[in-house]
Amino acid sequence: MPEKEIKLPEHEFRLLSDLIRNYCGISFDESSKFLLEKRLARRLEQRHLDNFRDYYRLLLYDRDRAEELTAVLDLITVNETYFFREQSQLQAFSDEIIPEVLASGPYGRKFRIWSAGCSSGEEPYTLAMLLLEKGIPANGLEVEIIASDINQRVLAAARRGVYRKNSFRTTQEYYIKKYFEREDENTMRIKDEVKRNVTFSCINLLDSGKMGLVGKVDVIFCRNVLIYFGQDARKAVVGGFFERLSDKGFLLLGHAESLMSITSSFSLRHLKNDMVYQKPHKSAPGYEAGAMPGFLRERTK
Ligand SMILES: C[S@@+](CC[C@H](N)C(=O)[O-])C[C@H]1O[C@@H](n2cnc3c(N)ncnc32)[C@H](O)[C@@H]1O
Repeated sequence: MPEKEIKLPEHEFRLLSDLIRNYCGISFDESSKFLLEKRLARRLEQRHLDNFRDYYRLLLYDRDRAEELTAVLDLITVNETYFFREQSQLQAFSDEIIPEVLASGPYGRKFRIWSAGCSSGEEPYTLAMLLLEKGIPANGLEVEIIASDINQRVLAAARRGVYRKNSFRTTQEYYIKKYFEREDENTMRIKDEVKRNVTFSCINLLDSGKMGLVGKVDVIFCRNVLIYFGQDARKAVVGGFFERLSDKGFLLLGHAESLMSITSSFSLRHLKNDMVYQKPHKSAPGYEAGAMPGFLRERTK
């Protein structure tokens, strides 16, 4: 049966997009009105509503509003991801960042990495594989990869750890053979030796209380997340990352993202394989104040 078409009026579009932006940072401008209308129309149908004004009220006042918001997030978040995304950045992580972090800390401490906006887990599991390739965790060196997302559905998939071909579009056969086992004809399951180093939690990056629970981390990956946010939300989230990073900690964004017009608190570090942001420490070499737009960074995907 064809879906009943319900139009999203201008006023309700503004109310709903403000509500979403204030809650999770994701910003819808005029050009994405149709997209929001299409996506939320399904919820109206399920809730037996015939207009967006009532739906907005439901999101504000209904006793099931928390569940409804979860359903909205599931419809509006972009969860595109795959293993070994942005190779040159991962190379920088493996060859330069890991050794530097390990050299800077007292031996035997925990190496903590946060994959913020981890989607279905391909990113944090990639990091876990890269660490295993370096022999980490090792005797006397623990590792903890905290992986978080706001979307409960993708987190459930991440915890399950079963993937289809699409997730392996840039994965070398070597890693598939070593760290996955066949689940069925079309899917592969990540091995426990990788899985055990990653913990998944539901964290809204705009919730400073929950962000605080993460504790101090050495490296933050927040790739292809801020691109969907409004400017105020970007500033708030990056401010939170600054707080969470240990001294000389690294922040790695997606290749189309940068801290330009967001903050100058981080330094841009020129590594051999990529440019990354670092919580400043004056004596470190290769520093440059300010930030360069992500699109100027050359990366092979
Ligand atoms: C495009 S995916 C990026 C996945 C992975 N980082 C990568 O680069 O392949 C963006 C993820 O950010 C999550 N996200 C969006 N807003 C969020 C928020 N306020 N808090 C936490 N996660 C959020 C989405 O649910 C989605 O899974």
